[in-house]
Amino acid sequence: MSQLISLKGVSKKFILRHHKVSRLKEQIIDFLRGTRYISEEFWALKDITFTVDRGETVGIIGENGSGKSTLLQLLAGILVPDQGKLEVKGKVAPLIELGAGFNPELTGRENIYLNGSILGFKRKEIHHKLKDIIAFSGLQRFIDQPVKNYSSGMYMRLAFSISIHVDPDILLVDEILAVGDLPFQQECFKRIQDFKNKGKTIILVSHDLNTLSTFCDRTLLLHKGELIAQGNTREVIARYVEILGKPDNSEGVKQSISLPGSGEIQRDGPSPQEGKRWGSGEIEITRVTFLDKERKETCQFKTHDPFIARIHYVAHQRIKKPVFGLALISEKDNIQINGPNTRFDNRVIEYLEDRGYVEYIIDRLPLLPGDYWLLVSVWDYECQQVFDAQDRMHKFKVIPGGTPERYGLISIPARWEYYGDQDSEARNRNPLNPES
Ligand SMILES: Nc1ncnc2c1ncn2[C@@H]1O[C@H](COP(=O)(O)OP(=O)(O)O)[C@@H](O)[C@H]1O
Ligand SMILES: [Mg+2]
Repeated sequence: MSQLISLKGVSKKFILRHHKVSRLKEQIIDFLRGTRYISEEFWALKDITFTVDRGETVGIIGENGSGKSTLLQLLAGILVPDQGKLEVKGKVAPLIELGAGFNPELTGRENIYLNGSILGFKRKEIHHKLKDIIAFSGLQRFIDQPVKNYSSGMYMRLAFSISIHVDPDILLVDEILAVGDLPFQQECFKRIQDFKNKGKTIILVSHDLNTLSTFCDRTLLLHKGELIAQGNTREVIARYVEILGKPDNSEGVKQSISLPGSGEIQRDGPSPQEGKRWGSGEIEITRVTFLDKERKETCQFKTHDPFIARIHYVAHQRIKKPVFGLALISEKDNIQINGPNTRFDNRVIEYLEDRGYVEYIIDRLPLLPGDYWLLVSVWDYECQQVFDAQDRMHKFKVIPGGTPERYGLISIPARWEYYGDQDSEARNRNPLNPES
């Protein structure tokens, strides 16, 4: 088998620049000399060695900040190593950061040409593929609009469509399949599977352990920039889960929830860690879906739309009076917005057996446009034992259009009253009690 990717002792450093703390006079001198910062080296990847053969699908897992994206950027040729030797043979299609390689001012169509040329295609070749790329992206109506007007899901569709149509030898996928609606995600996974069946090479970064188990022949585990395990996907996942379970698994990143709903997410680290799951497992949350008012699956809502989160579970044994809880969390600043649970709502579930689902129903979603995480959990009645908790593994989006309001996080159902100076009768009325 031929080797497409080979890394030997590869390291990558970033230079972090801090403002220097100094006295005014020194600051002025520094300013004149142009040395206002202290620089510090930070090794994001340390001494990485592995190879990938043609036709392999290799997963990469690791906590946030462990170096996964940096590694993919090296493979894509976007970054170069500071030490070691890196060889990549063949055409690489990077499906990495959202919109990487896109120019926001250009239209979707123009970006297809731009992206194609970055990937090494002639204009004529791209021209031939254009129709298919647009068709698969499903963006026919938007293709001549600047991509800065696109939602992250639309970006994703376009990027994915380009990547699979340029027929690369190596496909790099970084996490981004979490964006986009479910049918599209399923289509992406189907295409990745086709790609795999054709004997192509895939490097897949994902927090979704199911995705990794399904696709990857082999998985690498990064921890603080080091490659600490590689091999059988199931074994590597087990090692990863073990690391996540350790209380101090990385600097300052420590999180837990206390009671479902009532509790808040505690964190004392700067970089919140997404995609965390824990619990004793008697009940497992197998799937979470978001539904609109027709009970159709979707990941996009408008403010004030009906919103349903459906939490599917399987109970491995009969469990009396379990409590389901959840929290809505804004992605941008990680603010927990609420924390309801079935017990607060006096919904006593006598017992659970087998499979089923519970629904959390909001008649009018108050959230303003943005991306939101859903934390879901299931507990015993006393809320002492957690059977399964999934922190920031499920995401949905609120898109503009439901309200002109745009400041803060939520739109509270409320109204304005106005009292002119003359209208004394109105002024004496209590708007909260019109009868008085
Ligand atoms: N351009 C950059 N400049 C400085 N530090 C960076 C840069 N890119 C990434 N890092 C740092 O390198 C580390 C690894 O980042 P990354 O590869 O994005 O991790 P992951 O994808 O596993 O979450 C992080 O600590 C991150 O802050
Ligand atoms: Mg990353």
